[in-house]
Amino acid sequence: MTVTISRTQRRFVLPEAELPTHYYNIAADLPVPLPPPLHPGTREPIGPEMLAPLFPMELIRQEVSTDREVEIPEEIREAYRIYRPTPLQRATALEKALDTPARIYFKNESVSPAGSHKPNTAIAQAFYNKQEGISRLVTETGAGQWGSALAFACSLFDLEAKVFMVKVSYEQKPYRRSFIQMFGATVIPSPSTETNAGRAILSEDPDSTGSLGIAISEAVEEAGSRDDTKYSLGSVLNHVLLHQTVIGQEAMAQMEMAGERPDVVIGCAGGGSNFAGIAFPFLRDRLSGASSTRFLAVEPASCPSLTEGEYRYDFGDTAGTTPLLKMHTLGNDFKPAPIHAGGLRYHGMAPMVSHLYDQGFIEARAYAQNACFEAAMQFARTEGLIPAPESSHAIRAAIDEALEAREAGEERVILFNLSGHGHFDMAAYDAYLSGSLTD
Ligand SMILES: Cc1ncc(COP(=O)(O)O)c(C=O)c1O
Repeated sequence: MTVTISRTQRRFVLPEAELPTHYYNIAADLPVPLPPPLHPGTREPIGPEMLAPLFPMELIRQEVSTDREVEIPEEIREAYRIYRPTPLQRATALEKALDTPARIYFKNESVSPAGSHKPNTAIAQAFYNKQEGISRLVTETGAGQWGSALAFACSLFDLEAKVFMVKVSYEQKPYRRSFIQMFGATVIPSPSTETNAGRAILSEDPDSTGSLGIAISEAVEEAGSRDDTKYSLGSVLNHVLLHQTVIGQEAMAQMEMAGERPDVVIGCAGGGSNFAGIAFPFLRDRLSGASSTRFLAVEPASCPSLTEGEYRYDFGDTAGTTPLLKMHTLGNDFKPAPIHAGGLRYHGMAPMVSHLYDQGFIEARAYAQNACFEAAMQFARTEGLIPAPESSHAIRAAIDEALEAREAGEERVILFNLSGHGHFDMAAYDAYLSGSLTD
């Protein structure tokens, strides 16, 4: 019997020396400037003083910066080297299973210590807070990935961390809780009785399963009430998206190693940070007219902020305590169904992603969760990696693009971001395998 060995290269690995030295700030290249955040009372653009109780000055500076490049301090790069550069992989076995002429690549962010892209900004945020003398960070987490990332980052820079974890995830994912505690952080199920925001929700609905919007209200309230404590957000804001551009910058160099340019770049979108991270460095060429690459953000049908939300000013949290952000939103009182992609259950979308969607540079698509789990299963059985339920949305879209390419007889080059692994999501996979998962 002869065995045919495929000589198609599957992994594209950058040396440590090629870790990006700067973050890429897309604000410098926007044809129309981003609408500013507004004060909820006056509806005037806010100044840095309104954000100062919550964030260190360097992150506020990055939030409003229009400099194209922001240098990454050596301390942050040193911490990134624990897991970066991450590999770019070609999904040759998946291509074969789909019998498609498309070539499918994915950036594997699941290799980080927390198992997702979230440490890219957690490390940066912990560092800048530490540098400004802050000793404690408080945050929210949906699926537990962000809480894990921030707990890890705070342990690196010797900061205390407290995490309000959306109650449904706290119950569905006990090992995410343990993971967060392993790094010395405290985890509280949200809504909790520790804050006014939490108590107000519980008095109306004692069985509330929580939401990211509620957990954000709790964390913001606590950060605002203590001088030693700042707030840390895992998505949505400009500085978070900025930190995630290390993904796309590495992917550009790796696609070049592969001798390819993507026809379409895909990411799942909860608050928009991993999508922005892989897309924005490639989008720079699209904005300048140098490429015609498409960009596809994929969201859950049960929380479709881009495809069905309104583009207007709204609060970032449920209690209405944050500045108003111009974004695609389902309304800050929207209660998403407790689907398993906990990280995609957010009522709004990053202002920067919303703006580029509104300007026609980004496409969006929504899928129900069973279709995504089916894609996750096919990916696991071909490529050997069990994706996070969030990432399975990107995989569903990548597979559909590859099937469309087959119908059209087209050699489409598809790049998606594998934002995380699903090793803590086995209860969700159990539900899928036993046929009890509903849409
Ligand atoms: C693995 C994974 N992917 C994606 C997301 C969604 O967030 P974002 O849209 O900011 O990347 C999350 C959020 O928790 C996540 O854990």
